[in-house]
Amino acid sequence: MNSPVESILECRGVSRHYGALAAVDGIDLAISAGETVGIGGPNGAGKTTFFDLISGLTAVSGGQILYNGKTITGVSPHQLFHQGMARTFQVTDGFGSLTVMQNMLASIINGGGAERPGLFITRKHRDLACAVLADYGLLNSADDLVSDLPALDRKKLMVATAVVHKPQILLLDEPVGGLAPSEVDAFIELILGLRKTGITIVFIEHVMRFLLAVADRALIMHQGKLIYDGAPKGIAADETVKSVYLGSAADAMGAH
Ligand SMILES: Nc1ncnc2c1ncn2[C@@H]1O[C@H](COP(=O)(O)OP(=O)(O)O)[C@@H](O)[C@H]1O
Ligand SMILES: [Mg+2]
Repeated sequence: MNSPVESILECRGVSRHYGALAAVDGIDLAISAGETVGIGGPNGAGKTTFFDLISGLTAVSGGQILYNGKTITGVSPHQLFHQGMARTFQVTDGFGSLTVMQNMLASIINGGGAERPGLFITRKHRDLACAVLADYGLLNSADDLVSDLPALDRKKLMVATAVVHKPQILLLDEPVGGLAPSEVDAFIELILGLRKTGITIVFIEHVMRFLLAVADRALIMHQGKLIYDGAPKGIAADETVKSVYLGSAADAMGAH
């Protein structure tokens, strides 16, 4: 019998070097299934590179990443996707010249739990696409070109095309970056709804209001290292985080 898997994701001394630069520098971390973890930290801290290592887009220079108890060194992004790992990107993605529905169907037939894309779009695929687009408030825009969508809807679609595959773990890189405050509120509701489904969510986000509202655990990265791992509420009072990241913003956060 295998021993029970304690963490869905575990990092042991994970590093990524670019020449002399340690973009990610010896990260140790264990994330349990069902946690919602928010990662903050200044630009260039290594957050996106860290996601690239976890999702197999970039090879580690050192250390080990375990997903569901198995090392994933050398496992490609699409294999990880078929094992239940989905991610979105900092720059909002999507096929701009296709409609919202076409984007959703493209995602569905390229996933579907099989290693190869399906060749036919069936009624079942369409029904699933409609259901998920409705959940995300995008059904009325189903026939709109993605390039014509407002930023909020493009970001929602990116999450929806990942969530449609019912991943075990979802990685979101700056899901609300660039959105207006009321749009951030809409995204908070969306992610809180997703949390209830029991999925593990790890997200990168500068918008502290979002991180505080959504995460049950916060990580702060600085120069490739983890400088904080704890309750989101504790960030504002942490001296190291204050000095390297938040500065005077910490006082503003504490004032809420
Ligand atoms: N492919 C690459 N080649 C060289 N340097 C890179 C590469 N990707 C990222 N970096 C560098 O690694 C550091 C971390 O970048 P990144 O992970 O994008 O930070 P963050 O997402 O926290 O803003 C930065 O200094 C960036 O310039
Ligand atoms: Mg980044």
